[in-house]
Amino acid sequence: MGNLNNKIALITGAGRGIGQAIALKLAADGADTAIVDLKPEFCAETCEKVRALGRRAWAYGADVSKAASVEETVAKVLADCGKVDILVNNAGITKDTLLMRMSEADWDAVLDINLKGTFLFTKALAREFVKQRSGRIVNIASVIGLVGNAGQCNYGASKAGVIGFTKSVARELASRSVTCNAVAPGFIETKMTAGLSEELRQKMMANIPLRRLGSPEDVANAVHFLASDQAAYITGQVLTVDGGMVM
Ligand SMILES: NC(=O)c1ccc[n+]([C@@H]2O[C@H](COP(=O)([O-])OP(=O)(O)OC[C@H]3O[C@@H](n4cnc5c(N)ncnc54)[C@H](O)[C@@H]3O)[C@@H](O)[C@H]2O)c1
Repeated sequence: MGNLNNKIALITGAGRGIGQAIALKLAADGADTAIVDLKPEFCAETCEKVRALGRRAWAYGADVSKAASVEETVAKVLADCGKVDILVNNAGITKDTLLMRMSEADWDAVLDINLKGTFLFTKALAREFVKQRSGRIVNIASVIGLVGNAGQCNYGASKAGVIGFTKSVARELASRSVTCNAVAPGFIETKMTAGLSEELRQKMMANIPLRRLGSPEDVANAVHFLASDQAAYITGQVLTVDGGMVM
């Protein structure tokens, strides 16, 4: 028996990377999963791996930045799964460039997916959580939202926004026993970071006290804790998972 037996977890951007690791960690502890990514076929690998763990998995193609797509998806998930207990807002992108070169489109795309997407999915499930008088919301922020980074003003703003959003929602929903926390990963080995130069990698590593990059599983472990009953008295917090980079 896992601790998350009979729980349904919805994870956005769960087709690969950190989102997939989160889905597998929650499934390994007993949760059934609603896997959301841009296209249903992006969800196939994660669904297969969840099923291999003996849990159920449903695939949904949705663009988190579009209200109609999010609402339609949440309606389908509720019809298929009956309820949602855990929402993980993980879908996110980068479009890095220096401020003076950044286009309005680069700004809008990152804010729309990272911040508005988190708002839209949280809003679409808030009524359910309030009705249930339970629910766990975990938003994936970033240490860049805490300390900033040259070349990432759009991303930093979106992730700082996610943190402010998390704390406000935590206050709004606390009276119904719904918690809302954020996990702020540091430098995690995924496709998002695979393109970085060796020089930049070494530079970043020099600032990581634990002297290694994080794995998607490192992030998933923190999300699992915040989504569990063990974290019932924790809300509005930002848990950094960064090898000690920001302290
Ligand atoms: N990798 C890192 O070092 C790192 C560090 C800090 C924070 N994060 C955050 O972790 C989260 C996951 O990052 P990752 O490294 O696994 O990235 P990734 O690019 O490997 O995966 C992101 C997933 O989100 C999906 N996605 C993108 N836009 C979407 C949209 N509009 N609607 C639905 N799905 C969409 C993609 O298809 C992809 O499957 C992001 O929010 C990212 O900002 C990552």
